Amino acid sequence: TQTLDIAVIGGDGIGPEVVAQGLKVLDAVVGSDGPKVTTTHYDLGARRWHATGETLPDSVLEELKGHDAILLGAIGDPTVPSGVLERGVLLPLRFALEHYVNLRPARLYPGVESPLAVERVAPNGIDFVVVREGTEGPYVGNGGSLRTGTTNEIATEVSVNTRFGVERVVRDAFARAQARPRKHLTLVHKHNVLTHAGHLWRRTVDEVGAEFPEVETAYQHVDAATIFLATDPGRFDVIVTDNLFGDIITDIAAAIAGGIGLAASGNINPEGRYPSMFEPVHGSAPDIAGQAKADPTATIMSVGMLLAHLGRTAQAERVEAAVAADLAERGTAPRPTHVVGDAIAARL
Ligand code: IPM
Ligand code: MN
Repeated sequence: TQTLDIAVIGGDGIGPEVVAQGLKVLDAVVGSDGPKVTTTHYDLGARRWHATGETLPDSVLEELKGHDAILLGAIGDPTVPSGVLERGVLLPLRFALEHYVNLRPARLYPGVESPLAVERVAPNGIDFVVVREGTEGPYVGNGGSLRTGTTNEIATEVSVNTRFGVERVVRDAFARAQARPRKHLTLVHKHNVLTHAGHLWRRTVDEVGAEFPEVETAYQHVDAATIFLATDPGRFDVIVTDNLFGDIITDIAAAIAGGIGLAASGNINPEGRYPSMFEPVHGSAPDIAGQAKADPTATIMSVGMLLAHLGRTAQAERVEAAVAADLAERGTAPRPTHVVGDAIAARL
């Protein structure tokens, strides 16, 4: 199509600030020769909840389904009880829009400092992508608490793993590995303890792997994976893992690749049945909200992922190149949020 119809959810804290810079860069890369970008802003998050008690009304969810993609800033605020917005806005979006591939690249760009001694631990660089399952696992809310608040309290949080859900994300991860030069896929799980789910994941990787004979596979328990992420991250190419392990290891991945301010993500519905949603991995950072201190780079990179997902490969590559050029020269002096957005937009 010649239009890009984007739903925008700025959300809480620094969300609106970083999203504004993402949209600035989107406008700049699209330029005058199209496609024509239309944006529709949706007010979701703490403000709406305080004002109306609503999190994600059905009518809003239905409207969101009509857009080509969603750009999200961050959801979560200390004035709202923990879990209300996460379970009320962000996770319902991921679940209802079948974002079963939560794609989180980790790449150390030239000029970016890693807390690791990269020359030693990753002389060939850090460049991998985590395919985090996005709709199942311990995130589904299958749990409860008995005798709450008593000394006999029991709380459960059951991890749900379906063959259907595991197979579709594993197949996606294999396809991504197949398309990369190294063609390597690591399953991260904990099958020595989580035997039921772990064996389902392992068997699925073995079976789906038969369809991808060129892809070499490896397995690591999640605890060991954290060691290798810190001591030998160059070994990873594509990682596939469940929702909670993926949440945890992508924060480590962000940390070793220059920090959470640079970590982009896509919540992807590969079939395109529903719009995919792109967001920085970081949260709403209420402590620095409204001060122009947030780094919008992760959101800008998420815009690049959005363009790539919609098949606008050349524009995605231009965003990536503009970000890379900015990173190569930015140094360590802090720049206000909009200045980073201006600098990247100016390179387009
Ligand atoms: C993330 C966040 C979310 C998650 C929270 C806010 C629900 O940490 O996107 O990584 O756990 O998925
Ligand atoms: Mn997280």
